[in-house]
Amino acid sequence: MKKIYPCIVGLGYVGLPLFVRLKNKFSTIGFDINKDRVNYLLKKNDQNKEFSKNDLILKNSSIITNNVKKIKKANFFIVTVPTPVNQKFEPDLKYLRDAMTIIGKNLKKSDIVFIESTIYPSVTQNFCIPILERNSKLKINKDFIIGYSSERINPGDKKHSVENINKVVAIETNNKKILKTVKSVYKVISKKIILSKFIKEAETSKVIENIQRDLNIALMNEIFLICEKLKINFNEVKKLALTKWNFHNYSPGLVGGHCLPVDPYYLAYIAKKKNYPSEVILSGRKVNNNMKKYVIKKITEILKKNKFNGKILLFGASYKPNVADIRNSIPLNVYKFLKKKYSRKVFCIDTFVDSKIAKNLRILNKIDNTKYDYFIPLVFHKNMKLIFKKVLRNNKKIKFLNLLPSE
Ligand SMILES: NC(=O)c1ccc[n+]([C@@H]2O[C@H](COP(=O)([O-])OP(=O)(O)OC[C@H]3O[C@@H](n4cnc5c(N)ncnc54)[C@H](O)[C@@H]3O)[C@@H](O)[C@H]2O)c1
Repeated sequence: MKKIYPCIVGLGYVGLPLFVRLKNKFSTIGFDINKDRVNYLLKKNDQNKEFSKNDLILKNSSIITNNVKKIKKANFFIVTVPTPVNQKFEPDLKYLRDAMTIIGKNLKKSDIVFIESTIYPSVTQNFCIPILERNSKLKINKDFIIGYSSERINPGDKKHSVENINKVVAIETNNKKILKTVKSVYKVISKKIILSKFIKEAETSKVIENIQRDLNIALMNEIFLICEKLKINFNEVKKLALTKWNFHNYSPGLVGGHCLPVDPYYLAYIAKKKNYPSEVILSGRKVNNNMKKYVIKKITEILKKNKFNGKILLFGASYKPNVADIRNSIPLNVYKFLKKKYSRKVFCIDTFVDSKIAKNLRILNKIDNTKYDYFIPLVFHKNMKLIFKKVLRNNKKIKFLNLLPSE
C-alpha cells in the first residue's frame, strides 16, 4: 500500500477532531480557508473549546495551513465544510462547491475524496463529482474515487466522541486495494466502521438521524405547550407515559446548532424537486422555532409583573449545554431580542462562548456586581449550579426560574 497523506478540508467542529486523530498516525494536512482559525490552531488554541493545547501538538510532520499550495501532497481528502441553508431555507452548497474546486485543482491519479459534510441524497454524485472532474480533468472511478461518510460527532459530549461512535463509510467499489486504504484511514478515526456500497443511502441515513431527533423534540415541545394551556403538569404526564414499554424519552427543548435546524430542509428540498412535498419533516421545524416566542413571552411576563423594576440574568447563550457554538442558538436569539427591548433589565452569562465573541455580543463571561432579581437558565451547562451559587452571594434574594422542564 502506498503512503497515505490525509488532508482534512475545513477544521471546524467536525474537521478538527478528525485531524487530531489522523495526525497521530499519518502525516496529515489540516486545511482551512479561515486564516484566523488557522492562526489560533497553530497557537494551539481551539476557540470551540473542544481540544486542549496538548491535543493540538503536531506529530508526524503534520501541518495546519490556509495555504492551498500545501495540499498538493495529499492523496486522501476528507471534506468537512459547512452546509447551511440560505434565506429561503434551501441548501446552500457554496462552501462545498469552493472546497471541491480547490481539491479538483490539486487532485492526482489514484486520489480518494471523502465527503463528510451533511448533504441531501445525490449531492456527492451529482454535485461534487462534476466539479472535481472539471477542475482536475480526471475521470471518476478511472482516475480517482469518491466516498461519503456521515459525521455523527456530538460536540460537548465526551461519551460519544468520534473514536467511540460507529462510523458509516460508503464507497462504491470492490477494488480491494482501495478498500484497504479507506479502512486504514477510517480505522484510525473510529473504533467501528460500517462499510456501505451505497453513497445515496448513506447520505440519506445521516439526514434522517437528525430529522428524527428534531421531530421527537418538536412533539415534546408541542405537548408541553398544550399542557401549559391546560394547566397540567407536563413532568407528571411524561413520568406516567414513560411507564409504558414503548414510550420514548424525549424532552422539550430549544433546538439550535448547525444540524437539527438545517438538515430537515435538505431532505425536504430534494423531495420537493422530485415532486414530493413532504408533510411531516418540516412540521417539527415550525414548532421548534416557535419555542423562542414562548420563552420571550414568559420572560416579558416576569418583567411586567415586576413593573420593569427587576433585573434578569439569563444563563447560557450557546445552542446547547457545554459547547461554545452559538450557531442558530435560540437562547442567544432570545437574549438579543430582550436586550434590544429592555436593555438594562436583561443580562446574560455564558462561560463556554469564546470570550471575544461573548464581548461583542454583550455576554458576560464572569460574574459582575449587578444586583439581579432572577436567574433564568436557558442552557444547562455543567457549571450552572456553581455560577448560580456565586451569583447568590451578591444577590441573596435572587429567584431561580426554570422555564422549561429539565431532562
Ligand atoms: N457541528 C456538528 O455537531 C456536526 C455534526 C455532524 C455533522 N456536521 C456537519 O459537518 C459539516 C461541518 O460542520 P461544522 O460544525 O464542523 O462547521 P464549522 O463551521 O465548525 O467548520 C467548518 C470549517 O470549514 C471551513 N471552510 C469553509 N469553506 C472552506 C473551504 N472551501 N476550504 C477549507 N475550509 C473551509 C470554515 O472556515 C470552518 O472552519 C456540516 O455539513 C455539518 O452539517 C456537523
